[in-house]
Amino acid sequence: MNEVLLSVDDVRICYEEREVLSPTSFEVARGEFLCIVGPSGCGKTTLLRAASGLVRASSGEVRRRGQPVNAPSREVAFVFQDYGRALLPWRTVEGNVSLALEAAGVPPQEREPRIAEVLRKVGLAGHAQKFPMQLSGGMQQRTQIARCLVQKPELMMMDEPFGALDALTRQGLQDELARLVREDGLAVVFVTHDLEEAIYLGDRVIALQADPGLGRPSLARMIDVKIPRPRDQLTTKEHPEFLRLRRALFSFIEHGHE
Ligand SMILES: Nc1ncnc2c1ncn2[C@@H]1O[C@H](COP(=O)(O)OP(=O)(O)O)[C@@H](O)[C@H]1O
Ligand SMILES: [Mg+2]
Repeated sequence: MNEVLLSVDDVRICYEEREVLSPTSFEVARGEFLCIVGPSGCGKTTLLRAASGLVRASSGEVRRRGQPVNAPSREVAFVFQDYGRALLPWRTVEGNVSLALEAAGVPPQEREPRIAEVLRKVGLAGHAQKFPMQLSGGMQQRTQIARCLVQKPELMMMDEPFGALDALTRQGLQDELARLVREDGLAVVFVTHDLEEAIYLGDRVIALQADPGLGRPSLARMIDVKIPRPRDQLTTKEHPEFLRLRRALFSFIEHGHE
């Protein structure tokens, strides 16, 4: 296994005495694509925020390269589902991407080439001077992804980033993301409520289960996705292993067993 970038060790989260995440453990290695899947309300966002240092664990520990994490850091970029609110409406595409570099104290003359490169990468080269309201949802989400990539993070945390997009745009962005991750060798933790998306993108998938007993914590299980890359929207989704994993995960999430 490659170098471990992130360790989540028995992390448990309570809000006002109520346990919303039972102790959960996983590791993310350099270059790995890890998906977290589960129904709405099962604790996915909470887990991702804890893994990013945005929320403190009630017990257990998050470590990055072996060091305990208590706050967000620049090596970890976060992509939100709500791209509409994640972008500043009064800044252009270029200006929004620049924000990450300004925050990191990168001098102005270095910013421009880095922004141009990353916009080319995500297919927004011709749109640098547009404002968010002039862009489609898919382009807004690409802008947010560009803003993360420009920081050259080693780890990208994504919370249902494609959940609000139409199916075709979503598939296109899935394939682009998989390519970018392969090219840059960065690690991703990707949260989704869509089983197929999780299996299609992931090297591994963690399934969380909302317990039907009110207020009970969720249970996790982990699967390896041994389907070759590059993956393809048609052939991968007809691959026998894809169908087998989809069936097994569906049963687990719905019924608690395979
Ligand atoms: N800041 C908070 N305070 C209290 N309860 C919260 C807070 N954030 C989330 N919750 C609760 O924790 C549970 C898990 O939420 P969340 O992690 O957002 O689930 P998911 O992302 O899987 O939909 C939900 O019952 C939610 O209402
Ligand atoms: Mg959520």
